[in-house]
Amino acid sequence: MSAPLVKVLHRLQELFQNVVAALETMILLPSLFRGLGRRRRKPFLGTHWHRRSLDSFVEEVDTLFSVPLSTSTMIDMSEKIRAQFRHCLQNSPVCMLPSYTTTLPTGSEKGTYLALDVGGSTFRVALIKLNGREEEMEIVRVSSRYIDNSVKLLEGTQFFDWMASGIDTMLKDVGADYGRGDVALPIGLSWSFPIDQTSISSGLVIHMGKGFHCSNGTVGQELGQLLIESCRKRNLNVQMAAIVNDSSAALLSRAYVDSKTRMSLILGTGTNMAIHFPVHDIGRSKFGVRPDGWFDYAKNVIINSEMSMFGGGVLPMTRWDDVLNRTHMRPDYQPLEYMITGRYLGEIVRLIIVEAVETASLFGGQLPHSMREPYSLDTSIVAFIEEDSSTSLSSSAAFLQKQHIFPATPSVDDLRFLRRVCQVVSRRAAAYLATGIHSMWCLLNEAEFPEQSSIANLLIKESPEVIVTESDTAKNVSIACDGTVINKYPGFRDTCQGYLDRLSAHSHPNSGSAIRLESAHESAILGAAVAVAVAVAEE
Ligand code: BGC
Repeated sequence: MSAPLVKVLHRLQELFQNVVAALETMILLPSLFRGLGRRRRKPFLGTHWHRRSLDSFVEEVDTLFSVPLSTSTMIDMSEKIRAQFRHCLQNSPVCMLPSYTTTLPTGSEKGTYLALDVGGSTFRVALIKLNGREEEMEIVRVSSRYIDNSVKLLEGTQFFDWMASGIDTMLKDVGADYGRGDVALPIGLSWSFPIDQTSISSGLVIHMGKGFHCSNGTVGQELGQLLIESCRKRNLNVQMAAIVNDSSAALLSRAYVDSKTRMSLILGTGTNMAIHFPVHDIGRSKFGVRPDGWFDYAKNVIINSEMSMFGGGVLPMTRWDDVLNRTHMRPDYQPLEYMITGRYLGEIVRLIIVEAVETASLFGGQLPHSMREPYSLDTSIVAFIEEDSSTSLSSSAAFLQKQHIFPATPSVDDLRFLRRVCQVVSRRAAAYLATGIHSMWCLLNEAEFPEQSSIANLLIKESPEVIVTESDTAKNVSIACDGTVINKYPGFRDTCQGYLDRLSAHSHPNSGSAIRLESAHESAILGAAVAVAVAVAEE
């Protein structure tokens, strides 16, 4: 038999084994496929039923996660997501949300402002000094509180009371009377959740993701008012001067130093993009009630896209994504987020581990007790293992054993399996993120160069066989980005940038490196302060 034929037969045999193994898994682990409602009491099958090798399992994982990542498939997905963006720009009440910020900062705004940042895992209160574009912004003082699960479970006003206590402590540190004077102290809030903005300083609560229960009972209530009332209970005299989503804060903080900034990205516990976008391309019903004359002067407005909510039905999901989604507090709410962010990467890897323990003898067929609970494998572990390029992976073993108790030390094969799984899961995350960013960039191009886009569309319709490039219509953008995953996950940003280069070169040949990811560190607190400064300047 010729060598290529042997190879093909070998591949077919492997494929067949994988299909059989997958069917066995479906029969043996029905809970993985049925979802949460019923949690198995006896989750593991014991050590007797291990039918696959770790190698064949990891090959299957790799294939499932890599199949959608060819450039042409990603371009196709980007176009489909753009269609979702366009649709939601006209009428969705929960995403593509226009703010009230029409003009970007000039960079000449100065002053010291109090900024709050409610992120996915920390709450920060900071005093920020803006010195004008020529000098660096200064974080005069900052206090940080970890948002643990017990805080995430606080419902309604309880959460705002918790925030007020943090503000109180910080203000007391600054000075006994600070925030208690006769004149209300203006504050800016960066809120890393969706919000239906009703003015520059107010907005209505929308369902919150990331495991927060604060929106239970508060959806539709005014966010600023909720916080101010909790502050009043502590005799704090503060006034909400600006509320911004954290993605808008990133855009503002970067635009303060670079006037060309038009887009921003957050990738941490959650993900999102904000974009400075033409008002006339947004459905009128999305603006609610605006002050008289608002539409006469507002040419562009910052949109909080809530990009996490897109990609449903477009981005392929594996069986582990499926379990994660079906067992989630809000299934289908944020499809992109569930596959790419810091809150979920660890959980996807954990679900794969659970199956590998049960069917391929990972960890000798015994799952550490501590890994049985959903969300018990932190994404920081995934990042650590991926960064470990040693052959022995001994530091990964030590790190893992610090966080989880293993009946027997994980073998090198176990660790190699894990590293490969982490790489595959994070690579897909970078690719899906790049697809979302590319889609948003195309949306901006389409809005800013409408004639060229419609000529291109017409040509495509009339002569589908002709390849029409939009290279002349492409806009070079630098995207202000922030968040723990994009900042810290080893290699993530470069991988994402690589995918972006490929996608932009494909859809807009000759556009070069048209989309560039630029860091915008501390963007939430800096951006909230800039938002207050802009609001004060507009008064
Ligand atoms: C929230 C967005 C937020 C993003 C990044 C998402 O889960 O819905 O509002 O901007 O996370 O923090």
